[in-house]
Amino acid sequence: MLRIVEETQGDIVAREALLDAAFGLDRAAKTSERLREGRLPANGLALVARDGDRLVATLRFWHVTTGDGRPALMLGPLAVAESHRTQGLGSLMMRRGLTLAGAYGHRAVLLVGDEPYYRRFGFSRALAQGLDLPGGYDPARFLGLELQPDALVGACGMVSASGAFDAAAADGLMPAMDAAEARL
Ligand SMILES: CC(C)(COP(=O)(O)OP(=O)(O)OC[C@H]1O[C@@H](n2cnc3c(N)ncnc32)[C@H](O)[C@@H]1OP(=O)(O)O)[C@@H](O)C(=O)NCCC(=O)NCCS
Repeated sequence: MLRIVEETQGDIVAREALLDAAFGLDRAAKTSERLREGRLPANGLALVARDGDRLVATLRFWHVTTGDGRPALMLGPLAVAESHRTQGLGSLMMRRGLTLAGAYGHRAVLLVGDEPYYRRFGFSRALAQGLDLPGGYDPARFLGLELQPDALVGACGMVSASGAFDAAAADGLMPAMDAAEARL
């Protein structure tokens, strides 16, 4: 049976393997990673899907702040195991994550991803138009969604990470992702 639940420490190795398979081993170079590295995801917003004991999807959200001081969430990465794609699981993860984010009082969500996929959840290029990200990225893939009315109207400036630091990653002097990879 398929269940979407909060991620636990025991999921990290399987989650990282799924992300490597979905995005390749050079995924740490992605611009979005600059807003995640060394940070903890937003409370209650690190989700996995399990089919029996197997982790088959992952989705996390991260605290960021826009250049003009608005709190928002950065979404990603979203990945579904190849064996489970095109069965609606990606959409289920998105809808669960966005519903939870709204229920927790978050105002807006940003992401870098394929607009043809994410527009079905309400994401648009227009809402991220005035914002910028650290590092190189394709502006056509930088998208926004408002969870509360007008949360992104006029938003501008560089988006920066604002989540709590991941003490486990700092202790080991390496990002959490590398720590997980080291155990593979
Ligand atoms: C993108 C991804 C999460 C979708 O998961 P999924 O469980 O297959 O998604 P769903 O079943 O909810 O939706 C499938 C639909 O999305 C479409 N779709 C999938 N990826 C797409 C993309 N990049 N652009 C546009 N449409 C896309 C499929 O063609 C399918 O269309 P249909 O509903 O008309 O048949 C999954 O393909 C994946 O993990 N890909 C690799 C990692 C990735 O690209 N992550 C997203 C970053 S942009």
